Amino acid sequence: MASSTPNLRLENKVAIVTGGAQGIGECIVRSFVKHGAKVVIVDVKDDLGELVCQDLGVEFVSFIHCDVTHESDVENAINTTIARHGQLDIMVNNAGIIDEPNLSILDNDKAAFERVISVNLIGVFLGTKHAARVMIPRCSGSIITTASVSSVTGGCTTHAYTSSKHGVVGLAKNVAAELGKYQIRVNCISPYAIPTPMSLNFIGMDENTNVYSNLTGKTLGPQDIANAALFLASDESGYISGHNLIVDGGYTVLNPAFGLFSLTR
Ligand SMILES: NC(=O)c1ccc[n+]([C@@H]2O[C@H](COP(=O)([O-])OP(=O)(O)OC[C@H]3O[C@@H](n4cnc5c(N)ncnc54)[C@H](O)[C@@H]3O)[C@@H](O)[C@H]2O)c1
Repeated sequence: MASSTPNLRLENKVAIVTGGAQGIGECIVRSFVKHGAKVVIVDVKDDLGELVCQDLGVEFVSFIHCDVTHESDVENAINTTIARHGQLDIMVNNAGIIDEPNLSILDNDKAAFERVISVNLIGVFLGTKHAARVMIPRCSGSIITTASVSSVTGGCTTHAYTSSKHGVVGLAKNVAAELGKYQIRVNCISPYAIPTPMSLNFIGMDENTNVYSNLTGKTLGPQDIANAALFLASDESGYISGHNLIVDGGYTVLNPAFGLFSLTR
């Protein structure tokens, strides 16, 4: 039976991926290129970003140095993308950081809290704002933000990180409400724990770390998030906006420490 999904799901589309030099962002970049998009990596890690470009081919991927907390950097990244490719169809706000885990709020200092909010929430605001600036005249676009299961739960990560991830979901809902009239869709993806440089540093996670999985025998990886991003970026999700797509194998729908069904395992 013929599949209704085209082989190149992002053909003729141009995408920016912030934080695309490594981790989940890099996997999104690779998947978008595989599906025919021209991709611009926006990151502060120039060496890693350039390596990805060389590996995938500079005719398909390019790099722009940009700290997402600086509005002039973000503005420049969007303007340079338009100068290079003439359009922006997909904006992936993926760059993110986490602060040191402090078990008491009394040990959380304001500067560390502000740093996380600055990258994870204000960076997303700036990316969304300047992507919208060039998408509105074309009445077309998909804006995607990498949130986290911490956007809908408490207690998994730090106060700052959880606050920032709840914040980006609120921002996406509000901007989706505004930009619907321009046929611009705005969504979030919320991953559960994945071994990347961020989680390796935060919880000492590695490929073999046993994090709770509701889907017995399955492990969440960056490709699962890239697949979700591919769906939200492509025309297949043409009527989906204001949504927070949680990619956690069911983790957030139950309390893993207490439940009827866990007794049967
Ligand atoms: N790894 C996980 O378990 C996990 C789970 C849920 C959500 N997330 C989210 O996924 C996203 C990607 O995380 P990851 O695990 O791939 O992390 P990572 O640390 O591997 O990659 C993050 C990337 O963002 C870039 N970055 C950081 N600050 C930046 C700034 N100010 N400007 C531009 N780029 C900047 C880094 O240089 C890096 O390339 C983040 O938003 C994170 O919060 C990760």
